[in-house]
Amino acid sequence: MSNRSIGIFDSGIGGTSIWKEIHSLLPEENTIYLADSKNAPYGEKTAEQILQLSIKNTELLLKKECKLIVVACNTATTNAISFLRKEYDVPFIGIEPAIKPAALQSQSKRVGVLATKGTLASSLFHSTSENHAYGIQIIEQEGTGLVPLIEQGEIQTNTTKALLQKYLKPMLDEGIDYLVLGCTHYPYLIPVLKEILPANIKIIDSGEAVARQTKAILEQYDLSDTSNQKREHQFYTNSDVEILASFLASENNNIDIEYLDF
Ligand code: DGL
Repeated sequence: MSNRSIGIFDSGIGGTSIWKEIHSLLPEENTIYLADSKNAPYGEKTAEQILQLSIKNTELLLKKECKLIVVACNTATTNAISFLRKEYDVPFIGIEPAIKPAALQSQSKRVGVLATKGTLASSLFHSTSENHAYGIQIIEQEGTGLVPLIEQGEIQTNTTKALLQKYLKPMLDEGIDYLVLGCTHYPYLIPVLKEILPANIKIIDSGEAVARQTKAILEQYDLSDTSNQKREHQFYTNSDVEILASFLASENNNIDIEYLDF
């Protein structure tokens, strides 16, 4: 059981930012990654559609005998993880916007959250913000249009920069000192965000915390891989293989990227 893979899914290439954190903390684990780019963006879909897509991805990872599933998508986590945990018999790790650390560290008591419409509309997001942001003003912004641009590999383009400038302006006007990235696609925008944001504004995402939580849960369930076999990393996309490969170009470990219709 313990040499089975960790399964990871996202609406597309965004969750590779989480895969990188997991792989760096847990290099001894095999992984299977699903990029459901054909159905991106999840953030503009209804809660029911997001749930059905999350079920489809989970069932494929279970068919591939994954021992644990990381929902590497804030939108899928906030809309589907409680159902998935009740329905399936493997541990699930989710990702939510890192409001808690930002709220604890903010001096200006104003924190910006950039996330998808689906995440910001979810009840899980609302209960997390209410629990952790007491006395803090949260300035929410839907990142509509950003995921499709990133899915096309458009990061340092004028269109992406202009959209980010428009979305960040209201938060900057309010005097935020922390920007929470509430979507796993957005860490790829950090170089552009740094060009736009004043130097005193800190950017936070949840990738490292998810990797630490994955390690803790593997240990808790005695699922850590202690075998001597060669490690493998299988990536499946139901869209463009080359774009997914370009986001993994810096990785030279045993990676295989394939097209799969799922
Ligand atoms: N990576 C997904 C997230 O973390 C993007 C959602 C989308 O496809 O809109 O929310």
